[in-house]
Amino acid sequence: MNLRTLDPLWEAILAEPAPRRYAARARELELKVVAAGWAMRHEIEDIIVLQDPRLLGLDVRDLAESLERPFVTVYSRPRLRFGTSVGHEALSAPDVCALLVALEATGFEIDPSGMVSSLLPTLTGKKLLTSAELDLLHYERVRHKAEVTYWSDREPAGDEDVREFKTSTGYRVWALAGADGARRFAVKGARFRARPPAQPVDCPVCGYRHTPGDAESTHFHRLFHRKEVRVLHAVANPRLAGRLGETQALVLVPMASDRWLHQLVHERAIRFKREMRFDSIQYPRPGKMVEEPAMVGFLFINDGPDFPPHSVVGAGAFVKREERWELNWIWVIPAARRKGVLRARWPALVDRFGDFDIEAPLSDAMAAFVRSHGCDRQKAGLLADQ
Ligand SMILES: CC(C)(COP(=O)(O)OP(=O)(O)OC[C@H]1O[C@@H](n2cnc3c(N)ncnc32)[C@H](O)[C@@H]1OP(=O)(O)O)[C@@H](O)C(=O)NCCC(=O)NCCS
Ligand SMILES: [Zn+2]
Repeated sequence: MNLRTLDPLWEAILAEPAPRRYAARARELELKVVAAGWAMRHEIEDIIVLQDPRLLGLDVRDLAESLERPFVTVYSRPRLRFGTSVGHEALSAPDVCALLVALEATGFEIDPSGMVSSLLPTLTGKKLLTSAELDLLHYERVRHKAEVTYWSDREPAGDEDVREFKTSTGYRVWALAGADGARRFAVKGARFRARPPAQPVDCPVCGYRHTPGDAESTHFHRLFHRKEVRVLHAVANPRLAGRLGETQALVLVPMASDRWLHQLVHERAIRFKREMRFDSIQYPRPGKMVEEPAMVGFLFINDGPDFPPHSVVGAGAFVKREERWELNWIWVIPAARRKGVLRARWPALVDRFGDFDIEAPLSDAMAAFVRSHGCDRQKAGLLADQ
């Protein structure tokens, strides 16, 4: 969680709770939100602050976003048939309620139980539920029993200040601040019971070893998993749609390109390095880009039926050495191999980079490719045993 979101929560949980609260007024607002189905930002802030004034200044939009319940734009019904409608940023009533549940679980004097009871009847008969609605269904069963943890984006460093205390709602807080301003805190519900430690497992998709049920390990697995899935599985990238020229399936990334394009190449250079067990990543980090005309990255964009359009199925880079281009590295996602991805783009690469060299040592797959599709010069470069 970024510090902008985390800071107000942190300050508030460390502060003394205020004696005067206006729970009845908050309840009225909640009912209004339940009836409307949506809440504007100021309404949500009122519901929260009326119950726990320490949360004044909390940016609910940031908080909602970091809890993966982003605001959406809703429109007022036009008053005339051809009238225009005005858009408002709003959060659905179940999302608002889930936000309150999260704040209660963080140890604040927020009581979502009334709003949960008002919303539950609206869920009866629904076959598909959003994650917020699911939270409401489980609410009574898990109330006061959860453990929640918040991290800033980076690990706290330097001298650490650790505090442990109980909130006015009987929740136990463990808070750690690094000298660098990074922090993390964990809050255990008043009825939290530690379960026996679970066994670590390897994720079948990304291979990350983690312990299900352990908040910290799950958090880091999720970060890793998302990144891996983005690279390993071709996912549609709408930004690429605008980049496709005549050579539909190949996007060249010269050094002066936009940072996000370099980022796409770089992420794949990391996978190449890992798979080949090389020591270094053969592509500069997007921030460290120099105007280097002698290096050109490239992206293979899917144009077949097996993956989404505008998804990246491979990447690589060419380097110019003594007036001749050399293919420095190339990596096709495992799921797209032996389907002709490289074969289909090879003529375009030859067009642009000429009779290029290929940096040795060649992998077995690349050597096999060169044997069937390489030019004479490339074939002559193969070692005798390849
Ligand atoms: C090498 C690599 C880029 C090939 O890309 P690709 O899109 O899978 O290759 P293609 O499907 O276009 O292959 C075309 C032909 O090359 C040959 N070939 C490719 N990979 C092969 C392999 N693993 N074994 C044997 N032949 C292979 C075949 O003749 C193939 O035709 P076929 O499938 O009809 O038999 C890909 O396997 C890869 O990324 N490997 C890991 C990284 C790597 O080795 N990079 C090269 C470092 S030098
Ligand atoms: Zn995973």
